[in-house]
Amino acid sequence: TEPLRLGIAGLGTVGAGVVKIVRQKAGLLEARGGRPIAISAVCARNRAKDRGVSLDCYDWEDDPVALAQRDDVDVFVELMGGSDGPAKAATEAALKAGKDVVSANKALLAHHGQALAQAAEASGAVLRFEAAVAGGIPVVKALTEGLAGNDIERVMGVMNGTCNYILTRMESAGLTYEQAFAEADGLGYLEADPNLDVGGIDAGHKLSLLASIAFGTQVAFDDVELEGIGRVSIEDIRQAADMGYKVKLLGVCQMSGRGLEQRMSPCLVPALSPLGQLEGGTNMVVIEGDQVGQIVLRGAGAGEGPTASAVLGDVLDIARGTRVSTFGQLSDKLVKAEPAKTSTP
Ligand code: NAP
Ligand code: HSE
Repeated sequence: TEPLRLGIAGLGTVGAGVVKIVRQKAGLLEARGGRPIAISAVCARNRAKDRGVSLDCYDWEDDPVALAQRDDVDVFVELMGGSDGPAKAATEAALKAGKDVVSANKALLAHHGQALAQAAEASGAVLRFEAAVAGGIPVVKALTEGLAGNDIERVMGVMNGTCNYILTRMESAGLTYEQAFAEADGLGYLEADPNLDVGGIDAGHKLSLLASIAFGTQVAFDDVELEGIGRVSIEDIRQAADMGYKVKLLGVCQMSGRGLEQRMSPCLVPALSPLGQLEGGTNMVVIEGDQVGQIVLRGAGAGEGPTASAVLGDVLDIARGTRVSTFGQLSDKLVKAEPAKTSTP
């Protein structure tokens, strides 16, 4: 059987993790995907850097756009990051060339998801991004496949592990925001631009993608009501605890007669609820469907193994012959939703 040939752009935490799984689990992936999964070429900025995995048997490209256009690449795997620049240029080039794309890049998709979905349709390519939302939790697959027979009523959750870690440490160890932030920084949790985490932007990107998938609407990151955790004080957390609540950076999206509500902000949740008991760098997504009721998904939202796991899930779907993109096959059916005029409590 012909192998499915990957071109991997980005060999950092996630990219190196994907290479390791492809090398270590070749037999399992072939059995599950129905054909071998091969890597034709890889790309990063620094060729000399040790990635903890041998890259000797793959071609090297310095330019991600060239990688995306190679004849021996069937699937372009974008793991560089950034909402514009090389990630956008290479993803566009891949889709234009009719290559399928698997991406973990929530920033890119939150800002340009609609245009990229249209580019994929125009060339008959598939665009998938399970890893972009809640890392290892297969929430995209849950919404698009397992729960496809439901009208989704609400999706909410904790979608940034760094913020949950900081809030948890403030609550459990009595650290100030600044102390907990410094601790998270020391552990390497923070994004290169920490405001993406603590400003709620990274979680807002994820929420906007989930809202689009859940409600069949265009991605509307600019309409997300965003508030980060920078103003949460130890006193807020103590008062919440006295009342039986915890403070979480909570995302909520729901459609009502007033329009599409998308909010990412610090909220009080009951301490004994699943969300209230979510500790450390973990993520949780709660989905409410008209038939299924409430589903709670919990797991690692970041890290090498969990995120690479989600990338491989998309790759194997493509290997099996799936031609459905995450946004669906008809992006022109994704309607532009009116943002809700006022917040619900
Ligand atoms: P990372 O560790 O910073 O790695 C980024 C990689 O991209 C590096 O190998 C870097 O090359 C390469 N790169 C950056 N700019 C490039 C350019 N212009 N040309 C070629 N290569 C370039 O990032 P990451 O944590 O793996 O994240 C990758 C993507 O996954 C991002 O979109 C991120 O948001 C998403 N994601 C990450 C996680 C996670 O847990 N880390 C979870 C979910 C989603 P060098 O190594 O040579 O510098
Ligand atoms: N900075 C993100 C987080 C990484 O803390 O959840 C995963 O998207």
